Formats: sequence, structure tokens, C-alpha cells
Amino acid sequence: MIFRVRLNSWKRACLFLVLFVTSLTFSIGCSLQTKNITSPPIGNIAKTLDLSMFGPALPANLFINNKKPSEDLIDLGRELYYEKRLSKSQTISCNSCHNLSNYGVDNEATSPGHKGQRGDRNSPTVYNAAGHIAQFWDGRAATVEEQALGPILNSVEMAMPSNKKVLEVVNSMPEYVTAFKKAFPEDSNPVTYDNIGKAIGTFERGLVTPAPFDKYFAGDKSALTTQQVRGLKLFEQSCATCHAGTYFGGDMYQKLGKEKPWPDLNDLGRYKVTGDKSDRMVFKVPSLRNIAKTGPYYHDGGVKTLDEAVKLMAKHQTTKELSDGEVKDIVAFLDSLTGELPAEYIEEPSLPKSTSKTPKPDVSTPH
Ligand code: HEC
Ligand code: HEC
Repeated sequence: MIFRVRLNSWKRACLFLVLFVTSLTFSIGCSLQTKNITSPPIGNIAKTLDLSMFGPALPANLFINNKKPSEDLIDLGRELYYEKRLSKSQTISCNSCHNLSNYGVDNEATSPGHKGQRGDRNSPTVYNAAGHIAQFWDGRAATVEEQALGPILNSVEMAMPSNKKVLEVVNSMPEYVTAFKKAFPEDSNPVTYDNIGKAIGTFERGLVTPAPFDKYFAGDKSALTTQQVRGLKLFEQSCATCHAGTYFGGDMYQKLGKEKPWPDLNDLGRYKVTGDKSDRMVFKVPSLRNIAKTGPYYHDGGVKTLDEAVKLMAKHQTTKELSDGEVKDIVAFLDSLTGELPAEYIEEPSLPKSTSKTPKPDVSTPH
């Protein structure tokens, strides 16, 4: 008797438990479902992403033919990158406008060069630049080696009067002459203007910044936050027609104001290089790696915040306006392109000492 009662209550307890678990499962199911309605399931977004448009994977460096150059050549390039005596006033180096400890920029709209003069364009970052199809906002230099020779002679930048004067500076310091010999062992006359560009360019090819996105690309799905994945999806839909590939840009030219005219037509971009009418307002699509750190934005540095820059892009380059929430998601995603700076590689080296033959600084304007 007692046993039967006990069995019954045991059965009842079981039944209760079964009912309880069933209703619990049901209610959890329901609440999950309501959650799904308010915020889209991130796993599904991630599944619909096509990451291949952001490949191939970021390489460790951008050395020509994947061949590591000699340390001597890289070291010389680093010295010249930091060398202020390559400027007329001896106060400006590449690093003045492209500060390597500051993501390769100076965060100025336009940069002060010789005697504080400013050009019309914003200084882009030198990080990852060697991976672009060409250099400058309008792509007028083919490679970083060629590009490096421009600013030294540019009257509003480093303002040296001639190649000859630059070589006079280098030749005045025996330590440099030895460094050029070591860096270019096959050249009978290693101290040339072209070799300055080669050395600086080679050094720049090591300026690569792997970022959280690269971990995500390689399969680590925890490298991006849920918001960043949402932003990536939006970016893929609205922005990746132009900002694609390894550098999220840097691989094509496009019209600024493609869908809705850009209001400021002072700088016609590639038209100045090609003279072709169809190139009016066409610029190199800039890479967006480290973009959170390289403001102000656009070729004239006219836009202060990344939020504003993203909104303007949606308005002028696409047919879709973005809500504030969508802008925030894209900006959060762009943060995942902020990379690691190669601290040791960019350490400022000690430079050769001036001699009595080294020309003195000259601050007369211009040239
Ligand atoms: C006074 C500031 C200033 C100095 C000094 C300077 N630059 Fe620049 N740099 C700029 C500006 C501005 C631009 C963009 C100009 C343009 O697109 O017309 C630029 C563009 C570049 C680019 C192109 C990047 C890209 O994404 O297209 C590279 C690379 C670069 N500079 C490297 C150097 C090197 C190397 C030196 C030293 C030899 C140097 N710069 C000296 C201001 C400077
Ligand atoms: C039709 C091509 C195109 C599309 C689509 C496009 N962009 Fe751009 N983007 C450009 C060009 C070209 C520039 C350079 C503009 C200039 O000359 O200042 C640029 C510049 C930028 C800049 C400023 C970069 C800098 O270094 O100052 C940001 C940020 C940017 N784009 C983000 C986006 C985002 C986010 C989207 C999607 C909402 C987007 N872009 C869609 C072509 C495009």
C-alpha cells in the first residue's frame, strides 16, 4: 500500500517534471524566437559574408618579388626616411608628415612643409601603401620608390633645390657613403638620387599592419564583435564595390561624387595627371586600413570625423542613405582595420654626423 502511494507520488513527480521541462523548453524557444526578431542572428550574417572579396590575405611585407632585401638596404632606407637634412631647412623628414609612431600620418588637414607652407592635399598614411596600384591621391607615381623622390624636391614640402644638392648633403657624410656602398654593392657609383628612392621605398615595403580583421579573415571568428560583423555586412553591401581587396581600397580609380556630385570641385584629381575629361574628380580609391587613426579625411582633409566621412560616402558614392545606427556599425567595423605598428622596425635610428662639408640649413623661400 505504502509502496503504491509512493509509486504514485513518484509518477506524479515525474509527470510534473516532464511537464515543467517541456514548458521551460517551449518558453525558452519562444523567448529566443522573439530575440531573433529584434536582433538578427549574427551567425547567419557571418554565414552570408563573402570574405573572398577582401583577399588575398595581407602579406607580412611587400618586398619586390617576395624577396627579402639586405638589412643594409632596409637600414639605409630607414635612416633616409628619418633624415631631416634631406630638406632645405633641415627640419623636415618624411616622418614629419608621415609619423610612423602615429599610423603614418600627422592628423593635419594639410601638412606644414618648408617654412610652414601647406599644399592642397591631405597626407595619406605610408603604412601598406606599397600594396596600392599607384601612389598619391591621383596615382601619379607608380611605386613607393618613385614616389619618395617627389617630396624631397617639392617646394612646399622638403624644398631641396636640386638632386645635385641632395647628393651633396649625402656625400658630405662618410658614414652615409659607406652605407650606400653596403646597400648597393653592385653599383660602381652607389650614391645616386634614384638609389635614395630605392632605399626609402624598400624600407616602406616593410610597413605592413596586421589587424583584427586579418585574424577574422584567417578564420578566428572571435576577432570581430557582433557589431563589427554587422558593420562588415553593411560595408560589403554598400562600400565594397570600390573599397575591396586586401587593402579595402588602393586597387582602382573612381569618381568622387559617382551618384551625387561632390560639392567641392577645386581639385579635379586624376584629370590633372591624364588631361582626360572623363577623369575629372576621379581619385584613387583610398585604402581603409588604419582609417580610424588617419583622419581628417578625404583628399583635402576637409572632413574631421569618420562618422561624417562614412555618411558622405553613402550619400555621394552609393544610392543608399545610411541610418545613424548603420553608420555606427560600419565605423565599428572599420576599427577592426586598425593594425599593429611594427615597433622595432620603425625605431628611429641614430643618423650619421654632419661634417664641416655638410651644407647648412637654409630657410629662404622657396627653393
Ligand atoms: C610636408 C609634408 C610631407 C612630407 C615631408 C612628405 N610627404 Fe608624403 N605625402 C604628403 C602629401 C600631402 C601626400 C599626398 C599628395 C598627393 O596625393 O598629391 C603624400 C603622399 C605620400 C605617399 C602616397 C601614399 C598613398 O597612399 O598614395 C607616400 C608613399 C609618401 N607620401 C611617402 C613620403 C616619403 C617617403 C617622404 C619622404 C621622402 C614623404 N612622403 C615626405 C605629405 C608629405
Ligand atoms: C563608387 C566608389 C566608392 C564607393 C561605393 C565608396 N567609396 Fe569611399 N571613397 C571612394 C573614393 C574615390 C574616395 C577618395 C575620395 C577623395 O578623393 O577624397 C573614397 C574615400 C573614402 C574615405 C576617406 C578615406 C581617407 O583616407 O580620407 C572613407 C572613410 C571611405 N571612402 C569609406 C567608404 C564607405 C564606408 C563606403 C560605403 C558606405 C564607401 N566609402 C563607398 C570611392 C568609393
